[in-house]
Amino acid sequence: MTYIKQIANEEGKTVTLKGWVSNKRDSKGLAFIILRDGTGFIQCVVSEETIGVDSFEPVKRLTQESAIAITGTIVKDEKQIGGYELQASAVEIISVAEEYPISNKEHGPDFLMDHRHLWLRSRRQWAIMRVRNRIIFAIHNFFQAKGFVQMDAPIFTCNASEGTTDLFATDFYGEPAYLSQSGQLYGEAMAMAQGLIYTFGPTFRAEKSKTRRHLSEFWMIEPEMAFYDLDMDMDIIEEFIQYVVADVLVHCKVELETLERDTTMLEKVKEKFPRITHREAVKILRGETDINGKNALLMLEQDIVTAKEKVLLSKKEIEERELKIASGTLKKGEINFNQSAIDKLKQVIKEQEALLENIPVWYESAKNFAVDSDFGGSDETILTRLFGTPIMVYNWPGEIKAFYMKADNENPSLARGVDVLAPEGYGEIVGGGERETDINRLLSKINEHQLPMSAFEWYLDLRRFGAVPHSGFGLGLERIVSWVCKLDHIRETIPFARSYGRLTP
Ligand code: 4AD
Ligand code: MG
Repeated sequence: MTYIKQIANEEGKTVTLKGWVSNKRDSKGLAFIILRDGTGFIQCVVSEETIGVDSFEPVKRLTQESAIAITGTIVKDEKQIGGYELQASAVEIISVAEEYPISNKEHGPDFLMDHRHLWLRSRRQWAIMRVRNRIIFAIHNFFQAKGFVQMDAPIFTCNASEGTTDLFATDFYGEPAYLSQSGQLYGEAMAMAQGLIYTFGPTFRAEKSKTRRHLSEFWMIEPEMAFYDLDMDMDIIEEFIQYVVADVLVHCKVELETLERDTTMLEKVKEKFPRITHREAVKILRGETDINGKNALLMLEQDIVTAKEKVLLSKKEIEERELKIASGTLKKGEINFNQSAIDKLKQVIKEQEALLENIPVWYESAKNFAVDSDFGGSDETILTRLFGTPIMVYNWPGEIKAFYMKADNENPSLARGVDVLAPEGYGEIVGGGERETDINRLLSKINEHQLPMSAFEWYLDLRRFGAVPHSGFGLGLERIVSWVCKLDHIRETIPFARSYGRLTP
């Protein structure tokens, strides 16, 4: 058996491929099958003349997602998907599929998510899962090459790490327990044993928010490094993201093409990531400081003008096309062409009108942004699009960050934390920072945050026995997949998403 991925080596040879019919088109005496086998897609041409009438009849009746084994010669054909075509000499039918619920027409996101077990087979989803796989591989390569030890944090925990509001409670032999929000606190213990470690596991957040960035169950990579301060932390975060993105650009060309991903923005990741304090970021957001000659608020005003223009132009074009259709002079194909153009324009109008509703809200939020608050999704979008690369925002107001963050020596009200915000509107992909080592400060923070002291006794031991400066960070796997693939929604980045309102399939 040969896999589609290997066919470039099989040109001119006869091979047998096993897979599923992802699409089929019939013409007189010929069937054109797009076969997928999990490693790729290829067009197979089956001719009645070659395989005979008796064998051709069942091929004609093959439905989408039927499984076949197909034997034939591999021929180069630049025009075809993957650059090759199989000219069949024999077709063996393994199973004929019932009518497949997912066709080539548009389906809504809820329908597709309800059919996620089947939707995973479609080309775009196939490509996304391959990018996800490559990112995971690159992450391990990066850390392993640097001598980090991968260690696993527990999933059942007795305490919060990031805050108590979004814990999933469960029952652990009659004791209350929670699903882990982050492996970090355990990661700190492991780093004191191994020096450089990373955890890579599922984490859980019970946020009742239906946004394009939030999952209830997501995978997080959490490195923790002994003897690293915040600057060293930021250095390695930058190097890490640059490495992962560059690796995907090299190894996922086909996948990114399938996703029609414009990679120019990804290429720019090679440049240094600007490092700005939270205070500076607030000034930029409020329009008090310009970046590269661009002003956040003026850009929003310009967006409103552009959106209004787009709506007007689209409406005009719809009118023109409708007149053409009404004239009665068009052929059927031309009518269909115009109708589908009209549908697309209506979609554009819908999107622009949504923007026209949202931008004024974003504008107000940015202009009146309170100095000591956390950025919302729109604030992150506004900030990052002023820069072409990811940016690192550091030195946050201590009030809004987790209890374990190190207080800044010069200004103790600031926490030595860093968030990495991805460009193109994606926002936060990494959160991290330097950890507090002063046990008295930690004690008062734990009290301030009203966390149960007894659950943190073990954590405080890390400060009692050989405390050293240390730092780490957490990368949300699905967040980086979403950005690299430029997806509209995080639900497509994980095989089976779990989010508010979604527990099946
Ligand atoms: O910023 P967070 O909450 O930081 C931590 O958990 C730290 N303990 C990490 C550390 O320093 N070891 O989460 C880290 C990252 C975020 O930047 C984001 O990428 C992702 O995890 N994340 C989510 N991804 C999907 N859905 C959610 N609900 C997420 N919440 C956080
Ligand atoms: Mg965060």
